[in-house]
Amino acid sequence: MINIAKPLMGAEEKQAVLDVLDSGMIACGSIVSEFEKEFAAYLGTEHCIATTSGTTALEVGLRALGIGKGDTVLTTPFSFIASTNSIIYNGATPVFAEIDPDTFLIDPGSIEKALEEHPETKALLIVHLFGLTCDMDAIMEIAGKHKLLLIEDCAQAHGAAWKGRKAGTFGDVGCFSFYPTKNMTTSEGGAVVTHNAETARRARLLINHGMEIRYHHDEIGYNYRMTNICGAIGRCQLKKLEGFNEARREHAFYMNSHIDNPLIETPVEPDNARHVFHQYTVKVALGHRDAFIKHLETNGVGYGIFYPLSIPEQKCYAEMGFETEWPVTDTVKQQVVSLPVHPGLTDEEVAEVVRVVNSFRG
Ligand SMILES: Cc1ncc(COP(=O)(O)O)c(C=O)c1O
Repeated sequence: MINIAKPLMGAEEKQAVLDVLDSGMIACGSIVSEFEKEFAAYLGTEHCIATTSGTTALEVGLRALGIGKGDTVLTTPFSFIASTNSIIYNGATPVFAEIDPDTFLIDPGSIEKALEEHPETKALLIVHLFGLTCDMDAIMEIAGKHKLLLIEDCAQAHGAAWKGRKAGTFGDVGCFSFYPTKNMTTSEGGAVVTHNAETARRARLLINHGMEIRYHHDEIGYNYRMTNICGAIGRCQLKKLEGFNEARREHAFYMNSHIDNPLIETPVEPDNARHVFHQYTVKVALGHRDAFIKHLETNGVGYGIFYPLSIPEQKCYAEMGFETEWPVTDTVKQQVVSLPVHPGLTDEEVAEVVRVVNSFRG
C-alpha cells in the first residue's frame, strides 16, 4: 500500500524529545521560544506565537485582531472546517466567496462581488489550500482598497510563496498547523505569526489565560501553549522543511509530466506561486470518481478526498442560514482526489502511482 501521508521522524527528533524529557522542563519553555524565533526567521516575519494546534492559532489570531461579535469575515467555502469555525468561535459571522476551479483557491473576482453584497465585511480569511498560495497581488489590492484585516490560513502552506515572499507574511496574521500530516510537524501544534508587535502581544496574552504578570489575568484567555516536547520536534522538522518541500515538488512535477489520462486533470502551479504540494490533488472527469477511487484501492494506492462537502453545507451549520449553493465548489468537490506526494515516497512508488492513474479506463 502506498500511503497518502507519512510523518518522517528521524534520530534527531527522537533525541530531541529524550533531551526534553531528561531536562524535566516538559511544558512550555525555552525550547518553544527557540522554535518560535527560528520559525519567524524562516518565514521572514517579526513575531511567532506557538500554540496547541492550527485551530487554536486561527481562533487566537482572529481574536488578537479584535474580531468578535457583530463582525463579518469573508472566507472560502472549500477548506478544512477549522478556518470557518475560528470565525464562529469568536462570535463573528462568516460569509463566503467562490473558488477558482483550477487552483481551488478563493477567487478574487468573487470576493469583489461578495463585498458588494456584504459591505460591512471587516476581515478576509484566505486559505492557501493544498500548499498553493492565493493570488496575493489581487488579494492585497482588495484588502487595501476595502480596508480589510487579512488573515492567512497557512495550515497547508509551510514554505509556499508568492513572488518569493512566504505565505503567512502578507496578512495581519498568518496561522499555521503542525499536525502530523502537514509539510512539517510538532505532533499536534500550531503558530500565529505577525509583523505587528501589539497583535503579537495580544496573541501571547490570549494563549496564556490573559496573563502577563503571574496570576494577574487582564482578559479571559485560554491555555493554548505549545509544550517543549512539541517545540523540540518542531525545531528538528524545520531544519528539514525545505528538503521535504523540494521532494514534494519533485514528486508532483514528475506526476504532472507523466500522467496522461484524459479523465484526469493534474494540478497547476500558476506564475508567481511556489506550490509546496501539501496535497497533490487531481480532478477526475465528472461521474468517474467512484470508479477511480475503487481502481486506486484495488491497486494499493492511498488517496484522500479533500473535501467531499463545501463548508456552508456541513450539517453542524444547518441552523446558520448560510448560502449553500456554490456552483464551482459544488462541481469541484465531486471531482477532487488527492494522491500520495509526501517526501517519504520512493521514485518507484511515485512511478507506480503514475502507472495506476494512467491505467484507469473509467
Ligand atoms: C486549512 C486548514 N486550516 C486549519 C487546520 C487546523 O489545524 P489543526 O488540525 O492543527 O487544528 C487545518 C488542519 O487540517 C487545515 O487544513
